[in-house]
Amino acid sequence: MKSSIVASLLFSVALAQDAQIPLKEKAAGWFDKAKSYIPSVTPSIPNPIDAGDSAVADKKVQKINIRNYQRLLQPKIDGEEEWLIYVTGGNKSCFGRCGKADAAWNQSVPLLAALPQSAGSSELKLGQVDCEKEPVLCSAWAASCPSIFHFTVPQLNSLDPTYKPTSPLRVKDLNVTSTTADEIVRLASRAPGSYIMDVPEYSGVLHPVDGMLAKFGVQEYLGYFIWALGSTPSWLIMIVISFASRQFMGRRMAGNAGRPAPNTYGTSSPAGAAPAGGPAPAAAKPGTPGSAGKGGKKRR
Ligand SMILES: *[C@@H]1O[C@H](CO)[C@@H](O)[C@H](O)[C@H]1NC(C)=O
Ligand SMILES: *[C@@H]1O[C@H](CO)[C@@H](O)[C@H](O)[C@H]1NC(C)=O
Ligand SMILES: *[C@@H]1O[C@H](CO)[C@@H](O)[C@H](O)[C@H]1NC(C)=O
Repeated sequence: MKSSIVASLLFSVALAQDAQIPLKEKAAGWFDKAKSYIPSVTPSIPNPIDAGDSAVADKKVQKINIRNYQRLLQPKIDGEEEWLIYVTGGNKSCFGRCGKADAAWNQSVPLLAALPQSAGSSELKLGQVDCEKEPVLCSAWAASCPSIFHFTVPQLNSLDPTYKPTSPLRVKDLNVTSTTADEIVRLASRAPGSYIMDVPEYSGVLHPVDGMLAKFGVQEYLGYFIWALGSTPSWLIMIVISFASRQFMGRRMAGNAGRPAPNTYGTSSPAGAAPAGGPAPAAAKPGTPGSAGKGGKKRR
């Protein structure tokens, strides 16, 4: 309920450009309301109004998907970037439990957008992944919902194109019942009381920018594979496996049948080094007329 009030307030801020009341006043009132919903908000987190109208208007959250994530998270010439990407989902990917964290994230967005940037520090960027719509991306990242992916994207050196800096990634899983906006805001390195450096850095093979799979360009395929596996009903997988194994076994038997000396199979029965061997060995032993027929039976 609270979240819907916040959402409608957010909406009214977005519409404020058309209205008579200046955006600044509307946003100020809205911020006070929003703050009252966040019991533990750090008092030192500034009012976004102080940061100017642009901060309120600019509080855009980029939708991250399988097509744009590599471009967005690449190190750039322009400067260092800090990415805070909220990973959420719906009934299928989050078992319908992400609602509380969603509300906390929505409340934290304007607060994050308003954090003052000190000169020379990195630019703070906000992103969101909806695992319901981006199952492949979430599989490739092995992301669980709700969580925050925090990337520190370094600046490229324009003078030295061979310089390949790494992008430290920290993943914070959010508690579905107790996450607050304050907790999310303090993941930004510039927030007062930030604890992002306490979150262990991830540098394994699944790192979306620096990991081995990303470097070889196969991470997306892995995502497709895991996703396809996850969304295929198990009965279908069983049918395919049994069909494939039959095909395989059939081909193996047929292959053996064509071979000239199948000693490994033939030694057990005295009647036929012949049987699996097919017609040629059988013809070589004219004394056993039944062997050809036996061989045929055995093969079945
Ligand atoms: C998610 O599940 C809840 C409860 O089962 C249901 O009310 C809601 O409509 C579902 N939402 C979607 C998008 O399917
Ligand atoms: C959060 O905001 C998004 C868009 O701004 C909205 O679609 C969503 O319903 C909101 N969620 C909650 C729980 O407030
Ligand atoms: C989430 O928060 C609740 C309430 O604080 C706590 O009881 C629970 O253990 C937490 N869950 C996890 C996975 O940390």
